[in-house]
Amino acid sequence: MQAPMHTERPHRDFLNIVDFTPAETFALLALAERMRTGAYTERPLAGKALAMIFMKSSTRTRMSFEVGANQLGGTAHFLSPRDVQLGRGEPIPDTARVLSRYVDGIMIRTFAHQDVVDLAQYASIPIINGLTDLSHPCQVLADVLTMQQHLGDVRGKTVAWIGDGNNMANSWIEAAAHLGFTLRLACPEGYDPDESFLADARAKGGDVQLLRDPREAVHQADVVTTDVWASMGQEEEQAKRALAFALYQVEAELMAKAAKHAIFLHCLPAHRGEEVSADVIDGPQSVVWDEAENRLHIQKAIMAALMGGVAL
Ligand code: CP
Ligand code: NVA
Repeated sequence: MQAPMHTERPHRDFLNIVDFTPAETFALLALAERMRTGAYTERPLAGKALAMIFMKSSTRTRMSFEVGANQLGGTAHFLSPRDVQLGRGEPIPDTARVLSRYVDGIMIRTFAHQDVVDLAQYASIPIINGLTDLSHPCQVLADVLTMQQHLGDVRGKTVAWIGDGNNMANSWIEAAAHLGFTLRLACPEGYDPDESFLADARAKGGDVQLLRDPREAVHQADVVTTDVWASMGQEEEQAKRALAFALYQVEAELMAKAAKHAIFLHCLPAHRGEEVSADVIDGPQSVVWDEAENRLHIQKAIMAALMGGVAL
């Protein structure tokens, strides 16, 4: 029998928050914090390359992975559906096998989460989820890093999620149970988060509460966060959603119900006057620019661990 041309090597992926153990996640946050403060100056990606597949738009994810890979000594390569054969129907398994011969990791942003699972199954290199319709784990780890930066230890804190039970909400649910903080979600009926994420978090003993009233969710919370009412791919539902979410805007009166020291987070892009008022997102409690910056630091830590051999 002919020997295989290419030896598969074991690799780890980051498709959801739970792909790192809680201890590894705290180590990842500590590494990212060293990157944030400038204490970390090593280049574990020297000679390595990251492919970045974007089937949806991006400002932060693209730039932070690209710049982050460069800062760690590696390169990052942007692949858009307009230019790559995946966009013309080349199968995911074939794309996975081919890219595995060229690069040392793949970051992918796409619609169906199953496509990312399939990519990971057929690739012999680490796969990083840069957002799917189901989850956005890199963003939520950046958000947790921002919590730590402004509030200290995240364990025992309370986070209020206001609005859509979308990809961000699902990753927040995982993070809460995984890292030991309380999550209160206020979502209008019909827009609940994924049932299996809720069930998994509760099975782990996580304090995750699904509510309808935003005031109840925000009461004395340490963090108030929200996201757009219509995510990428839901643009045609915008008008219907604007009605369903009308009472779910994070505005000054709602923010005032949180703890005095509370911070406001938003993954961005934001729609002022829809999910958040301008005075909140541009106000003194908002730390959204630190949050956006932290995408760079946490993703560098993720790449260093998955692609650069840095132990957690
Ligand atoms: N928050 C976030 O993922 O931003 P982009 O869509 O700009 O990447
Ligand atoms: N929920 C939003 C997040 C954007 C970063 C979306 O999926 O479009």
